[in-house]
Amino acid sequence: MSLKAIIYDLDGVITDTAKYHYESWKWVAEQLDFVLTEKQNQKLKGVGRKECLDKLLKWSGARISEAEKQNLLQKKNKMYLKYIDTMTPNEIFPNFKEFNTLAKSEGIKVAIGSSSRNAIRIIDKLDLVLDFQAIVDGGMTPHSKPEPDIFLLAAEKLNCKPAECLVIEDSQAGLLAAKKAGMKSISFGEDKGLKGAQLQIKNWSFADLDKLKHLFDKS
Ligand code: BG6
Ligand code: MG
Repeated sequence: MSLKAIIYDLDGVITDTAKYHYESWKWVAEQLDFVLTEKQNQKLKGVGRKECLDKLLKWSGARISEAEKQNLLQKKNKMYLKYIDTMTPNEIFPNFKEFNTLAKSEGIKVAIGSSSRNAIRIIDKLDLVLDFQAIVDGGMTPHSKPEPDIFLLAAEKLNCKPAECLVIEDSQAGLLAAKKAGMKSISFGEDKGLKGAQLQIKNWSFADLDKLKHLFDKS
């Protein structure tokens, strides 16, 4: 088996949106009378919007009606989109574009597999729409990460088998989703606590395409 496709997570792999999510979820936490820590915010990475609110409700012990939940979700997203709408291509992580261009020049197919329902809007703000052959977001599949649906749909759109795909992820939910999809994975970033990846890459300047290809040598 050889490496035929790379499926990138978006948030935390191509750009840093976690800080914007954090600001918006902190406001929601305040409404629930508790303070959201950075450590708790880490646990929201890769997790779908509704499931994030469920976690906040669990941590706060608050009980609210379904209508109140919908209201908070709407307000959270409105606040988040205000940050997103200020984004420019300057917020693409350094060296990502170079790596992606090299991968494509070697015939590797590339896709985005993101839990975010705002993925296309973010990719558009970063002016990256034409850089991928497929984009799958959290609104396109029945289940979000840690379920494998998003990555499996991305592989299908690229016409590749799961075993030919490599996922690049910064969240535990995403690495679990890759495993469930039967795909190899790379953990991206400095978090040493992430489990299940074949390799860790601190940032795009450390991404060595040949090394990633070798992960498929013995499979
Ligand atoms: C993921 C983020 O990519 O998308 C999560 O890592 C976020 O933190 C999830 O909760 C859903 O995002 P959105 O944009 O649909 O609220
Ligand atoms: Mg992520």
